[in-house]
Amino acid sequence: MTRDRWTSRLGFVLAAAGSAIGLGNLWKFPYITWDNNGGAFVLVYLLCILAVGLPIMIAEILVGRMTQKSPVGALREALGPAWSLVGGLGVFTGFVILSYYTVIAGWTLRYFVVCLGWSFNGFVSAESSSEVFGTFVSDGPLQTLLVILFMAATMAVVLKGVGGGIEKVARVLMPALFGILLLLLVSALSMKGAGQALRFIFVPDFSGFQPRGALEGLGQAFFSLSLGMGAMITYGSYLGPRESVVRSATLVVILDTMIAVLAAVIMFSVIFSVPGMQEQIGKSTVGMLFITLPQLFYTAVPFGVLLAPLFYVLVAFAALTSTISLLEVVCSYFIDERKYTRRKAVTVCGLGTLVGSILCALSFGSSQFLSSFSLVYRGAAYAKRGLFEHMDYVASNWFLSVGGFFITLGVGWIMTRRTSEGELVDETTPRWFNYGAWRVLVRYVAPAAVAIIIAAVVSGKDFS
Ligand code: PHE
Repeated sequence: MTRDRWTSRLGFVLAAAGSAIGLGNLWKFPYITWDNNGGAFVLVYLLCILAVGLPIMIAEILVGRMTQKSPVGALREALGPAWSLVGGLGVFTGFVILSYYTVIAGWTLRYFVVCLGWSFNGFVSAESSSEVFGTFVSDGPLQTLLVILFMAATMAVVLKGVGGGIEKVARVLMPALFGILLLLLVSALSMKGAGQALRFIFVPDFSGFQPRGALEGLGQAFFSLSLGMGAMITYGSYLGPRESVVRSATLVVILDTMIAVLAAVIMFSVIFSVPGMQEQIGKSTVGMLFITLPQLFYTAVPFGVLLAPLFYVLVAFAALTSTISLLEVVCSYFIDERKYTRRKAVTVCGLGTLVGSILCALSFGSSQFLSSFSLVYRGAAYAKRGLFEHMDYVASNWFLSVGGFFITLGVGWIMTRRTSEGELVDETTPRWFNYGAWRVLVRYVAPAAVAIIIAAVVSGKDFS
């Protein structure tokens, strides 16, 4: 049987960008930027992307394309038998992230419908936006229904395979996403808070910047670029041998970073346009996307009645192309290593993950136990409560950094120079690419940076 392939490089870039662009960009990045006081953090984040994110992205796609295998087999073949454990951790991480990611993804469906209602019937402010949110997330049956819907959509796409499913969907959803974002951007930039938002994001002020912001930026770079768990190895394994790794990796990184920054520009333009909003947000930064924004769309944004539902469609699209890649990582292991048919793999992995998703969906108040149990952690993580928070904590802090650490170490130190240079440098390689610089980054800079994160996590810091 021949391996399923992308039909073109554009197809790969759109699918990989689809994996990277998701809730990490639209939900996490703006609030982390907010928490870390803007400009200085954004600058540090860009540095993390350049010095660590891009080199590891290149390393992962390289391993995938070279071996034409999913993470477990790919790392075994490229680096040695023991490295399949790193691939195994990646597959497990895919399962964990997918379990809790679908919950937030499901919320976007609900908010699309709610906003549509508000657009037609007027914004109902009898209940405050945070009350609406609180009632909604603790509604067990509704939460369950939403994750089932989202998982079903994800399974339906992955079932159709790489070229015929994942790529086809990315080719439609990604341009739609860019279009909607552009519309929102134009509207946001016309608001009176735009200037202040741009200054907040692009003028670095290091006076209040804390070193933990740098680590948070690095952790965010991993999550946002889908690195450290083999998603890019998997997608790279469906590339033909003649497609440039460096060119594609760079495009994906640029797209992902651009969308994160634009999302922040849009949200902060809206927020800064409403007097008093800044102080109010202070309290609930995580809720920015679902508590602050919906209300502002109807009170402050020009054409808000049109843009509000569109905005949640955008977030849903972004989330879907990410859940697709998470499920594909898990399925590809069973297809490649256990010889499952795609249908069987999608059924088993999809339904298996759905169990985890439903439990996470109930951990926002509908189940007392699932929402509040604590585990014994040290330091800041001690405050984590409930299944959702624990899952996000272990995946974002531990699994992605440990996985990423070993991938960069292996590609930097175990893979020979001849092999990696042979894979990366040929007539398709862009002229600006400097193999020696890349090698220094994957051998020294990236492992050192990730080791610092791991040390911080071990000592009790929390970056999720
Ligand atoms: N990168 C995705 C986002 O930003 C999340 C993700 C992480 C997807 C890891 C796949 C693998 O939302």
